[in-house]
Amino acid sequence: MADVARHPRIELHTLATVEAASGSVGNFKVKIRQKPRYVDVDACTACGDCAKVCPVLLPNEFEAGLMTKRAIHQLFPQAVPAAYVIDMDHCLGTNPIACGKCAEACGVHCIDYDDQEKVFEVEVGTIIVATGQDVMDPTPFEEYGYTRYENVLTSLEFERLISPLGPTLGHLIKLSDRTLPKTVAFIQCVGSRCDDGRGKPYCSNICCMNTIKDSLLIRDHWPDVEVKIFYIDIRAFGKGFEDMYKRSKAAGAKYIRGIPGEVMEDPETKELILHVENGDTGRLEEHRAEMVILSVGMEAPADMRKLQTILNLQKTPDGFYLEAHPKLLPVDAATKGVFFAGTAEGPKDVKDSVTQASAAAARALRLMAEGKVHIPAITSTIDEDLCKFCEVCAKACPYGAITVDRKTKKPAVVAEAACAGCGTCGAECATGAITMKHFTDEQIIAQVDAMLADRPEEKIVVFACNWCSYAGGDFAGVSRLQYPPTMRLVRTMCSGRVDKKFVLHAFAKGAPVVLVSGCHYVDCHYIDANRWTQKRVERLWDQLERKGIRPERLQLEWISSAEGAKFQTVMEAIEKIRRTVTPEEIEHTKKVLEKNLLEVPILV
Ligand code: FES
Repeated sequence: MADVARHPRIELHTLATVEAASGSVGNFKVKIRQKPRYVDVDACTACGDCAKVCPVLLPNEFEAGLMTKRAIHQLFPQAVPAAYVIDMDHCLGTNPIACGKCAEACGVHCIDYDDQEKVFEVEVGTIIVATGQDVMDPTPFEEYGYTRYENVLTSLEFERLISPLGPTLGHLIKLSDRTLPKTVAFIQCVGSRCDDGRGKPYCSNICCMNTIKDSLLIRDHWPDVEVKIFYIDIRAFGKGFEDMYKRSKAAGAKYIRGIPGEVMEDPETKELILHVENGDTGRLEEHRAEMVILSVGMEAPADMRKLQTILNLQKTPDGFYLEAHPKLLPVDAATKGVFFAGTAEGPKDVKDSVTQASAAAARALRLMAEGKVHIPAITSTIDEDLCKFCEVCAKACPYGAITVDRKTKKPAVVAEAACAGCGTCGAECATGAITMKHFTDEQIIAQVDAMLADRPEEKIVVFACNWCSYAGGDFAGVSRLQYPPTMRLVRTMCSGRVDKKFVLHAFAKGAPVVLVSGCHYVDCHYIDANRWTQKRVERLWDQLERKGIRPERLQLEWISSAEGAKFQTVMEAIEKIRRTVTPEEIEHTKKVLEKNLLEVPILV
């Protein structure tokens, strides 16, 4: 951080949050709100004289509440900048009559009670999102007695307790009587790998190694302290980690396979009693410890949602941001020019965070060094004469690449650098004012016509998205999986491109069944474009039913590129439906559509 602060080409805005962002790759405008520090950063020498006289004591969050801080304080010992900051919610100094002691004590006169919040805009070419992660709250796990027993701590609290800069200057003590514990027990996976709603279902990645490191540290510094580790399984998969695990066992740490059902305190001795079913022996055991450390997991910070909306990002069900592609673009966001560093994308340790941050910086650098962006040849184009300024396209665009000025009746404009070419705008536009280059309405309709030119009643028209369903079909093929030869695939970049007029055109030409298929719900390669697909198909089901057309004849399926077997199963099921469609039904459908009773423009 110190290097960052000193770098001549890096501007550091601390105490700041992103309020809004506009523009696209190469030309982002980011609105920043910066809280007042009430201390002149350049003048403050971080001597600490101000804090010595401040009368207000507050819990110190950095020290996990094990120490206090003053209303004027340094955020943490290595903070950059090192300048002090005033917590104005608790400071008495806005009224100098009430206090003002820090201002009196400051030799360089850098206290400014009238400092104001600033809102400003910066122009940047790329954005790297590095939100960090939060520690899970163990209080829902009442059986462990956290907050009920003084000697039950979280792993983060323990980390601060034994830190040389922490509250005890690195001495291991029990909080109940300030003496060295005889036994320290660690309980793993508190909050992680939890399916009962009190924690998170995923593995937090770092807790096993953190405990192994702590066990080595304890055995090294205090060899008389016994260490017991209760675990489900140890996940030591990084470089050198298995060796560290073995060293911990060799150093005398006892590993017990099983998570205690309850922690109780002996009221007289203050000893903690843990009951556990030992997974290796199958026996119920009672263990005693003077200190219990809950190895708590990591979770996404609560305010990630706000940034998600500002930058059009995707999130996984775990709450972390979703990368554009897990193998090929692991640090890229789906929004062009935005990259992820560290735990924004999932729990990880320091080494992996640094690796990912370096990759994100390199990805951003590549763009900046080139000075231009390559635009795919499949972006959307607008026919200004047909645009009715309805803004539907702008709302549908997952990338915020379209702007429409309804008030001044200016036709829609596509920022080509931001457009990824999903085609959702084109499918939602009721007036046909938008289409995609190389996936135009005419080209898709022509494919449908060709497919249904001969014996259409024997054909099933499948609209498959490029990235998942079409690739799933490919995978079924290379895996030699047999599926009915009645399928005819139309490839679109995303299922979001499948306009209802394509579906109805296929029915009008005599198709017995139409399938719209795309990536699984959270896997759409264009953020959430397939949500629009779902809504559109649901609307069509209603319309078809109202006109006496079996909605079953329009199918919607999510098939991933790895699901060749699912592709086969789905196609077989749809072939069964096709066989139930009678010539009378097909004729009725054609009549309805000839009269355009669904009130949808049909290209025939
Ligand atoms: Fe497959 Fe959007 S890319 S549904």
